[in-house]
Amino acid sequence: MIGLTGNGPVTGSERDSLIEAELETLYRVSQVLSRSLQLRETLDEVLKLLDSCGLLSCGMVSLLDHDSGELTVCALHDKCARPTETVRYRPGEGIIGIIMERGESIVVENLSEETRFLDRLGVYNPELPFIGVPIRIGERGQPAGVLAAQPPSREQLPEQARFLEMVANLIGQTVRLSRKVEHERQEIEAERDKLRREVRAEHGFDSIVGHTAVMRRVFTQVRQVAKWNTTVLIRGESGTGKELIANAIHYNSPRSNGSFIKLNCASLPDTLLESDLFGHEKGAFTGAVNQRKGRFERADGGTLFLDEIGEISAAFQAKLLRVLQEGEFERVGGLRTLKVDVRVIAATNRNLEEAVEQGDFREDLYYRLNVMPIRMPALRERIEDIPDLARFLVAKVAGRQGRPLNIQDSAIRLLMHHDWPGNVRELENCLERAAILSEDGEINRDIISITGLDEKLQPAEGVLPPQPVDLQDPNMDERERVIAALEQAGWVQARAARLLGMTPRQIAYRIQTLDIQVRQI
Ligand SMILES: Nc1ncnc2c1ncn2[C@@H]1O[C@H](COP(=O)(O)OP(=O)(O)OP(=O)(O)O)[C@@H](O)[C@H]1O
Ligand SMILES: [Mg+2]
Repeated sequence: MIGLTGNGPVTGSERDSLIEAELETLYRVSQVLSRSLQLRETLDEVLKLLDSCGLLSCGMVSLLDHDSGELTVCALHDKCARPTETVRYRPGEGIIGIIMERGESIVVENLSEETRFLDRLGVYNPELPFIGVPIRIGERGQPAGVLAAQPPSREQLPEQARFLEMVANLIGQTVRLSRKVEHERQEIEAERDKLRREVRAEHGFDSIVGHTAVMRRVFTQVRQVAKWNTTVLIRGESGTGKELIANAIHYNSPRSNGSFIKLNCASLPDTLLESDLFGHEKGAFTGAVNQRKGRFERADGGTLFLDEIGEISAAFQAKLLRVLQEGEFERVGGLRTLKVDVRVIAATNRNLEEAVEQGDFREDLYYRLNVMPIRMPALRERIEDIPDLARFLVAKVAGRQGRPLNIQDSAIRLLMHHDWPGNVRELENCLERAAILSEDGEINRDIISITGLDEKLQPAEGVLPPQPVDLQDPNMDERERVIAALEQAGWVQARAARLLGMTPRQIAYRIQTLDIQVRQI
């Protein structure tokens, strides 16, 4: 603490000790400011430092709030610790507002005689001088705020003002940096939230098409099960959407901010499967040069999707059972038992009951997995979903191809005659091929026929007969209308002609000129 309160002329040694104290304080201020970008806390510390060094008391930092255009008090070193949140200054208002507006420092020798002084904070000593300086962020332009304080004496006021300006410059740099970091943090958060929304939308219910009763049941089950941590077993033929449902469960669950990690159990031999799922310690086996976390650890707090669970060996079934029962495991080559909080979703197209009966699959593991089974219906069990699915998948292909595509009703009706052993994946592949074959982006029944579907045409059991089509539909072009009538008439031309109010000769002529391939039933 340096005594500066004498009123006589300033001696050389007093000046030297002031400079020394200022230098020391500047050094410590710069240390405080470089320590953290928590603006309010660092500003509080700086003001405390100015006071404890005996140089300036009642330090105050106010910064411009861009939304309101007013200065708000961000830090105040006041022994009474009064609330300051409500204290604001408009540019030009009071001494602080004037400094802000003019961008110049103000030194007041005697505060009690200063008419512009508003005393909104009620902390200042009217007998002492007062210095306020602008806080600058860049070289020019409006200041970002004001730093003010009271020196302990009227001596060397210009020097003390210069010192406060130096501190304000340091504060300005910190404000600039912390604003930049804050801005970047907000941008990163906004980007993260946007990506999360996109991923959720991509894996939410909107991306799963189906309005038939069997699919509505699946949606209800997914909604119910998503809320809880229970293990889910998704059953169903290949291509029925098992992975899609696993995603929907995760992204509609309270774990949706955690990771969704998946593994195809059929893709790796036992030893690799173990280190892949449980991780390994450094040197656990040849090639294990580093310690590595397994998928169970990476899925901690999230969901692990074990696809093709029916394919794992007996030895691995035992290992999996333990982690499902206890939530515990050791890394390969490790002694420490790790505990994780992971929700497991498994999927298989195998008949697990049969595998249990034949001794290929452990019964205890089967019961552990089968807590909440969801059965995905085959596409041939929900033929009525084909129109919506086809349009959805064509839009998906259009997105990939970057051009508009349209599928005609006649093509959709043809798709409804197939029994789809490869389910939705087969339908998607068929439409992708059709899109490639379509030069103008129109997918009609002829293009579908060229994909090879026609030869495989074999209406499955339970497949509906073609739905009656409104032949007067104004949106239908003539070719579509003739095809619809032919389909409705079981491809008997005379009957189709009657439906359209034409003679058999007229319909035969139309079939020829419209280049319609007539199906032989
Ligand atoms: N209901 C649906 N709505 C929209 N797209 C679907 C639907 N079901 C499946 N798909 C699409 O079909 C393809 C196959 O789905 P998915 O991979 O989920 O099937 P799977 O049952 O896991 O098949 P596999 O047993 O062969 O692994 C994916 O491209 C998926 O997006
Ligand atoms: Mg799959």
